[in-house]
Amino acid sequence: MTLQEAIELRHSVRAYKEQPLTEDVVKVLKERIADLNQEGNLHVQLMLNEPKAFLGPFAKYGKFRGVSNYLVMAGQKADDLAERVGYYGEHLVLLAQTLGLNTCWVGLSYTKIPGTYKLNEGEKIACYIALGYGETQGVTHKIKTIEQVSNVSDSTPSWFRKGVEAALLAPTAVNQQKFSFEYLGMKDGQHQVLAHKGFSMIGYTQMDLGIAKYHFEIGAGKDNFKWA
Ligand SMILES: Cc1cc2nc3c(=O)[nH]c(=O)nc-3n(C[C@H](O)[C@H](O)[C@H](O)COP(=O)(O)O)c2cc1C
Repeated sequence: MTLQEAIELRHSVRAYKEQPLTEDVVKVLKERIADLNQEGNLHVQLMLNEPKAFLGPFAKYGKFRGVSNYLVMAGQKADDLAERVGYYGEHLVLLAQTLGLNTCWVGLSYTKIPGTYKLNEGEKIACYIALGYGETQGVTHKIKTIEQVSNVSDSTPSWFRKGVEAALLAPTAVNQQKFSFEYLGMKDGQHQVLAHKGFSMIGYTQMDLGIAKYHFEIGAGKDNFKWA
């Protein structure tokens, strides 16, 4: 499965089978987490066979069931922590999809269980990502149009449209899709794209933007442009 296919197949899944992750899957996830922690200066941790975080009242509110594997998305407090968590976390979400797993980003519906994760001095938890073998593959949601979230036109490159299409399939908190992409033209021999985060009372727009930017890169082809 390619990452583009993973983008098209992924939906949030909140009910999971009682089936432990295979050793192979755990190995691939752990290796990728180590690489991404380095690249993104994060402290992402994989929790296995730990059901307590998703048993509390919050989990009931989000209708989570059978979650016993998840990612703790942590890092040093910083202005751009949420965007990096979104960007690198979505690498793991799409990797998980290619490995036959299902996922759900979780900003609110979890309980932090002391003794399960480790936080170093100055670090905080930004969110969790539930993962495992879903009872279903999830469902498609209504999404905004390309025109609503970009300045796509007859004169923008075809890869720009593909990038926006991929971004529109990205998960966002309460499906808010408060991001937009602006094609700026050429500068220093390179196409420039500016990603904007919109305003939301709910928050999470910075994390959503990081997630959407990774999708955009996959759809557009990372080598075709530079982020402005
Ligand atoms: C940053 C973030 C936080 C989220 N928090 C929650 C949550 O607390 N509870 C929940 O049930 N879903 C949560 N979601 C999942 C979204 O509701 C879901 O991605 C959105 O409705 C779009 O559906 P889809 O992922 O199936 O495309 C979150 C998603 C993101 C990106």
